[in-house]
Amino acid sequence: MRFNLAIDGPAGAGKSTIAKRVAKELSFVYVDTGAMYRAMGIYFSDLGIAPEEQEKIEAACKDVKISISYENGEQQVYLNGVNVTGRLRTEEAGKMASATSAYLEVRKKLVELQQEMAENTDLVMDGRDIGTAVLPNAPLKVYLTASAHVRALRRWKELTEKGQTADLAKIEEDINERDYQDMHREHSPLVQAEDAVLVDSSEMTIDEVVEKILSLARERM
Ligand code: DC
Repeated sequence: MRFNLAIDGPAGAGKSTIAKRVAKELSFVYVDTGAMYRAMGIYFSDLGIAPEEQEKIEAACKDVKISISYENGEQQVYLNGVNVTGRLRTEEAGKMASATSAYLEVRKKLVELQQEMAENTDLVMDGRDIGTAVLPNAPLKVYLTASAHVRALRRWKELTEKGQTADLAKIEEDINERDYQDMHREHSPLVQAEDAVLVDSSEMTIDEVVEKILSLARERM
């Protein structure tokens, strides 16, 4: 039986950083499902389809193939055979992913791929609906969150450390908007699974969060 660890939570809670470290410590594969939704968003953008054009989005889903591979332990996302990993982390790709992930056709396609991956290997998977829809029987589910203000501050620090100018109030506004969109959509909205352990990282360091999740995982393995 595979040990799958599901980590869900809002944007900017540190899911990827933490899930990646937990996976490394356990020698599990790390699957970033947000990257798959971002690749889908890029696919629609490249086709010139706007997020509100539901019919076009559903039709385009028939001709898309997203696949994942690992190079030097890093997840690579392929969109119709082309590696788009370098294009995934922009604000634009994030917004497009959040908007288009609301469509059932988009979700079906990616959930199928995610479930297939989980059948074949021990993994740590992060996203919004992993514990509620993708891996409802995962032996450990974590709902990782932090206050919107703390998440905005972290993002602001990250940008200013890179020498970019950033407006804290605008970042917090964008975070609240994305939370609202992810939590209020009809299909698989972001919600804490009943059997998920809540971890609020607002006042915790990354090391503390990693340790907490590792000890929960070891208890259940
Ligand atoms: O985690 P992220 O910021 O890379 O995710 C981008 C968007 O993709 C997010 O706003 C909502 C969507 N998403 C989703 O609907 N389900 C997932 N399992 C992962 C991401």
